Amino acid sequence: MLEHLTVVRHPLVQHKLTLLRDKNTSTAGFRRLLREISLLLAYEVTRELDMTTCTIDTPLEPMEAPILDGKKLALISILRAGNGLLDGILELVPAARVGFIGLYRDPETLQPVQYYCKVPAELEDRMVIVVDPMLATGNSSVAAIDLLKKAGAKNLRFLCLLAAPEGVARMREAHPDVPIVTAAVDSHLNDHGYIVPGLGDAGDRMFGTK
Ligand code: URA
Repeated sequence: MLEHLTVVRHPLVQHKLTLLRDKNTSTAGFRRLLREISLLLAYEVTRELDMTTCTIDTPLEPMEAPILDGKKLALISILRAGNGLLDGILELVPAARVGFIGLYRDPETLQPVQYYCKVPAELEDRMVIVVDPMLATGNSSVAAIDLLKKAGAKNLRFLCLLAAPEGVARMREAHPDVPIVTAAVDSHLNDHGYIVPGLGDAGDRMFGTK
């Protein structure tokens, strides 16, 4: 079983994270790095994926061989930045079902406001991996997971690129049963709810909107 918090310290992950943090990294570079790092993080967060078997013929004889039960996985992207982590994971598990939850942060209260929700059926039978690059206050993540649990999800994981200690604590309090996988836990949140030192606004950096 994954710990409540797993920090992936693999050198390739840490190297790519440094390049992502660098404000001189271009939008195109940021996107490419995010896709690459998502493949590496996906490896960690999918450790406990359901397996099944299938019969194949090797050149020597038939065998019953292990295979991913990809249809039992649901990936839920918290819009819009979650989409940056989605593509890489889907390359590894192409049969996964995909859902989207649209939440924006009210700039005054920093509280999440839901504007979209479309998730796969039968969440109770799936491993559900929620993806959002930045676990900052934890408000959106907690709200998204509240919603998914109401829809039936029982077996959840949360995948992010960077976490703030405040967000990790909030998740631990609200959803101690949901393991978090991240590349780093940074120092703190600033007054605007940004992770410090962080990498800025992940959505703006990946879509070039600022
Ligand atoms: N969202 C971001 O994109 N960046 C942060 O630092 C915090 C929340």
